[in-house]
Order: sequence, then structure tokens, then C-alpha cells
Amino acid sequence: MTWSEKFPSHSFFRENTLAYGGDWNPEQWTPETLTEDFQLMQELKVNLMSVGIFSWAKLEPSSGNYDFAWLREILDECHQKGIQVDLATPTAAAPAWLFNTDPTATAVTKSGVRLTFGSRQEHCPTNPTYRQAAKKLVEKLAETFGNHPAVTMWHVNNEYACHTLRCYCDNCAINFQKWLREQYETIENLNSAWVGAFWSNTYTDFTQILPPRTTATFTNPAHELDYYRFADEQLLRNFLTEAEIIRRHSPNRPITTNFMGEFPALDYAKWAEHLDLISDDDYPDPANPAAGHQVAFNSALMRGYAGDQPFILMEQTTAAVQWRKKNTPKRPGQHLLWSLSRVAHGANGILQFQWRQSPGGAETFHSAMVNHSGKSSFFWEETALTGQVLQQLNAVSEEFTSHSIAVLTDADSARARHLSVGPKETPLNYAAARAWHKALWEKNLPADVVAVRQLLKQNPNRYQVIIVPDIFIDYPELAQHLEKAAAAGAQIIVTKETGVVDCTLKAILGGYLGSLKNLLGVKVTDHRINASEYSQLSSENGVSLPYPKPDPRVNHISSAVGIPGADRQIYLDTDFAPLQRALEKIGKPTPRITGFEWGEYVVATQPASETTLPTWLNDEVEVIAQFSGQGGNDLAGWPAITRRQVGKETKGAAWYVATDLDEVGKAALLEVVCAYARISPTAVDLPAGVEVTQRGNVRFYLNHSDKSVQLAGVSGFELTTQREATGHVMLPPRTAIAVAIPSRLQK
Ligand code: GLA
Ligand code: ZN
Repeated sequence: MTWSEKFPSHSFFRENTLAYGGDWNPEQWTPETLTEDFQLMQELKVNLMSVGIFSWAKLEPSSGNYDFAWLREILDECHQKGIQVDLATPTAAAPAWLFNTDPTATAVTKSGVRLTFGSRQEHCPTNPTYRQAAKKLVEKLAETFGNHPAVTMWHVNNEYACHTLRCYCDNCAINFQKWLREQYETIENLNSAWVGAFWSNTYTDFTQILPPRTTATFTNPAHELDYYRFADEQLLRNFLTEAEIIRRHSPNRPITTNFMGEFPALDYAKWAEHLDLISDDDYPDPANPAAGHQVAFNSALMRGYAGDQPFILMEQTTAAVQWRKKNTPKRPGQHLLWSLSRVAHGANGILQFQWRQSPGGAETFHSAMVNHSGKSSFFWEETALTGQVLQQLNAVSEEFTSHSIAVLTDADSARARHLSVGPKETPLNYAAARAWHKALWEKNLPADVVAVRQLLKQNPNRYQVIIVPDIFIDYPELAQHLEKAAAAGAQIIVTKETGVVDCTLKAILGGYLGSLKNLLGVKVTDHRINASEYSQLSSENGVSLPYPKPDPRVNHISSAVGIPGADRQIYLDTDFAPLQRALEKIGKPTPRITGFEWGEYVVATQPASETTLPTWLNDEVEVIAQFSGQGGNDLAGWPAITRRQVGKETKGAAWYVATDLDEVGKAALLEVVCAYARISPTAVDLPAGVEVTQRGNVRFYLNHSDKSVQLAGVSGFELTTQREATGHVMLPPRTAIAVAIPSRLQK
């Protein structure tokens, strides 16, 4: 279903336009500036503005005393000028008077510090004073402006959990106990799920359970994980309360809240089910050469949450942010390039934080569409050009993207993995999914990023390749889905750290990989983490090791003991011809596959009957690569990559990767697997730095590099310049074009 079919009553959607605009905070400015704002908006070809995000203090200067006149003026004028409004509820930053009324309304940190007013998002999400005041204000706002002709969509709150992820106050404690009662019904169920027998962490009543505040040593990870889920659900509940009010007063206008890309603290796949449209905030660092991948990856995440619908980029910056230690601005061309890339990957709107650079406050040095120097800013021209070019691309807004490769994510698994104590510390992110997606992106192999929750709703035939990277929690339904997909011919790649625990962080007994053991034909008996990170800091680099290198003249015993996996890498050997060929193709000298410090002991699920065979072999599972002993790896000779053929006719297969493959390993394995799946890159033999990706019938050529490139065979109508492409095209550094493939969009 296209947006115009889904939201027929609002022109921005009905007319299939791409949105361009930003967060606008008129309350920070004088009337003269606002007059100028409207004029500059026309110049920049702005058509959608997010208004009122942090305006609570101005909309309700004191409790129950509402002042909406100024907002009405803004909305009226927007309507007159043809600018549509994404009207925000200002509930992400409550005003000072609210905290005066109720000093317990500010959140409490894990270590018991009550936050002080003077920033934003300092409120406790379950605080009744906050909840009631927010509800009343949203009711008034939606009642007053729900049918205003300028209001095209709603922006609920702002970046839930951006700063205050969890509150640990007494009120949250009571709510948590209630939540636990609903989840577990009896205290015995909870004790069993949390393995309460461990360290005598047994409860006899729900009222004994507090938020996981500071404890003597490791807190029970199951307790922590449930607190993450509880906190997530409290915020979702706040969103739903506001959304329900808005839907009553402002029917047919889509409701969103802005996501923050890769942010497993909230289970966005669950949230997405309650949003009418998905929007995202994303600030790739221009100092990172791989920042172009962040655009592709976060867009793929959003497409996944949107369930094949487009999304809106709700925030990016035109130049630099202010919150990094050093804030490199975008390079010339990069703003337009990344905006087009975002559209190529499924965005129907390109909005910036923010419209006008703040005169003061913590974001004074965060750039905007209108910077402090106004039209004389270096970035003005490109901001204007972006508005113009987007107008040429309106036809793209009805085009859909659908790829044959899926990379899976799962917020709960990321949280569980982060909270589990050992085998290795892991930050809370989707690092593995991102790395696999990047390996595909670098090869111009377009891929979707799909949450497990969303994959399960799809037809198992949909993808030809499914990558299951570090999905820590064992989901029997996922295993069933993947079995069906493999039986239908798909290639399934499962990587280490998958299926290790159940949903309350209890270990899978009898061998990890849980329900995937049958599909893969293998299970994991043990983990082996090499100390390889130490060797990065080898004394040769002038940095000392955490363990001093024993001097053999005086350390007669310890000098003869090695560090496990003392080389930074774990090396892999392979006799598998397609993989060898893929490695040769990468370049001379032929690289070796390496993995980082993670390794596993992998054995066949059904041990071979022949006693002469090593335990990990049977006639169903092939060893594609094994660990080498080089660098003192104790896993020498054990399988590192296995494959089990599923269904002789269909060529489906399930691959298991028992290490953290480096980029070469990923690239080579993907080459082999995609060949089996008959998937080829969008374009080949491209100059370095060029990404080619297709959105429906529009092909985007994105030159991320610092050099001009020549492209051959580009034909069709070039939407960006409104000219026919004649075969050869020259793209200057950091530029992009969008070409409508002949036949459809040319009519
Ligand atoms: C977030 C917020 C904005 C602003 C930007 C700055 O995305 O939603 O209000 O603070 O960060 O980058
Ligand atoms: Zn609280």
C-alpha cells in the first residue's frame, strides 16, 4: 500500500511529495525573526515543519493555564504559506513548575541520585503528576488543533529514553512490582525464571523486589533484563496514552515518534506496531569514512520497522552536531549526498534538527538549516540545493524497495547479551547485524534489516539469504521459520552467540544453539575467548600488556607460558574450493580468513556412528573451514564454519559460523553464499567509492568518494537534473544522481 492510499486525506501524503523541513522552535525567537523564517522557508523549498517539540513552558506557563494563541498564529500562517505541520506534543521536557509542585517528579538514577531540573527529559516516566499533566495538555492541544488544516501529522514526545532510559525511584518500584505480578502471576514462577536459588536471591513476596539499584556486586541479570523491559513498556504506555488522545481528536492524521536508529534499549519492533509511520533521527559522523554505511543501515532498520512502507528521516544536521568531543561538519556535497542516499534507501522525508540554530543553550553550536550567519553561512547553498533536488524526486515517494537478503536484529537479545555477565563484555547495540550489513553494502548487495518479531510475520519464502547474527535468545518459532525458509531453498547463516539463553537469561542446557541445533546439525559445547585484545597493545607498539611480559632471565617458569591466541587474530583454514576462490578474488596476496577473539567448540548434534570420526563430524554436516593453531589458538583443528544441506532439490543450506569473522571472512563467505542463492550485486566493476542501489524503478548512483568518477551504462531519465542520461556519466566527489529506469516513470 502506498502512502497516498494509506493516508488519503492529507496533501503531503496525497500528492506524493518528499518532505523537506525541520524542527522549528518559534518560541526561541522574536516576531521579526519569524517573519524572516517564513520567507527563508520558501527559499529553501520547505514543505513540512515539526513544531512545538519543546514548548511546554510556553504552552502552559503555569499549571492548567494554557496559552495556545501564539501556536495558532504559527499554524495559520503555515497553512497560508503552504507549509504543512508535524505537530508535536511537548512532553519530552516538562516545565519547572511541575517539579516544584511535585519534587518526586524528577527521575532517580541507578545509584540513587535524584535528577535536578535544568536540562530536559529529567522526569520520571511513571510519575503521576507528570502523567496527568501531560495527558491534560495533550488533550487540550489535540482538541484545539486536531483539525487545523496545517496539521498533517503528529510527533509524539521526542526521542523516548534518549537521556533517561530507566528511573529507579520508589514510584517506579511500585509499578515494577505490579508489572512483575502481571508477568509471572506467582512468586514461585518468578523465582524459577530468575533462578532465585542462586546466591539466595529467592523472594517470598513481590513487594520485596526493588528496581535493580546499586548492588554489592553483579545484580541478577534476569532482574536487570526485566527492568529494561518494564522501563521500555512504561515509555510505550506513555506514548500510547498520548496517541489514543490524538486519534480521538485528530482522526486520519498519522502519528509518529522519532526513533534513534540502532537503539536496543527500546524494542522498536514492538513500538512500530503502534506507529502510523516510522521516523528516525540519525547523525552519522562525517569524520568516519564508513558513515555512508550508517545511512544505509539505519534506513534499512527503519524500512524493516515500517514493514515495507517508507519512513521519514525526522532529524539530521546540515553540517555539525555539538555533542561529540569533536564535531566535524559534513564535507561539501555530503548533505545532499546523504539526503539522496536516505531517499534511495526508503525515506519519504528529509527533515533536519533544526530549522534555526539556537541563540543560546546547550545546542548553540549545533548547526541548522539557518545557521547563526544566516544566508552567508557556507552551508546555506547546499541546504537550498537539497530542497530543490528533493522536489525533482517526488516520483520516488511511491516506489518500494524489496531485497532478497535479510539481516536479523532482536532488541531483547541485544539487551540480554549486554546484561549477561560473561563470557565477554558486550555493549548494547546491533554490532553484528551492522557488520554483516556493511559487508553486503560494500559489495553493492542490497539487504533488508528485519527484527525477528517482524520476520515471523512474513512468508518463509520471502528471502533467499537470511543472516542470524548473535541472536542470543533462543526462539523456537524462529528456528521453525528458518527451517521452512531453508527447505524452500534459502541460505541461512547463523553466527556465534546465537541461541545461548532463554528469554529470562537461563542457559540453554545440553549444548548452545537451542532450537537451531536441528537446522544447523551442530551445537556448541563450550566458548573459548582468546586474550587477543591484549596483543593489540603489544609491547612492540610501546604500550605495555595488562600482564607484563615475563623476562626469561629471572622468570624461569612463567616465561615459558604463552598468552592464549596471542596474535590479534584467530586464523581459519579452508579446503572448500568455492571459499578459496572467493578469497583469491579478493586480491593478491590471497588473504586468510581470520576471526577476532571469539571461538567455540562445535560438535555435530547427532554424533557420527563411526567411532573413528572426530565427534564433530557426521555425514550431514560439512566443515567449510577450521581453526588454525597459529598464534597459540587452543581451538586448532576444530570447525569454525559448517554447512548443512537442507533438501537436496532446493539447494537450501544452513551455515554456522563459530567465530567473529573479520571483514575478509565475511566478504568471502557472502560471495559463496550469494552465489548459491543466485543473488548478484546491483552493479559490478564500479569505481571505488560508488554505491548503486535501487528503489523500485529508480536507480541511485551515489559517489561517496573524494574523487570524480566516470560511470558507464547509465541510461534512463535523470530525475535529479531532469535530463536524459546517455550512457556515460561523470559524478564529482560526494554527489549522487537518481535515474528512472526507462518504461515506467518516464510516462
Ligand atoms: C536529538 C534531539 C534533538 C536535538 C538533537 C541534536 O536528536 O531529538 O532535539 O537535541 O538530538 O543532535
Ligand atoms: Zn521513577
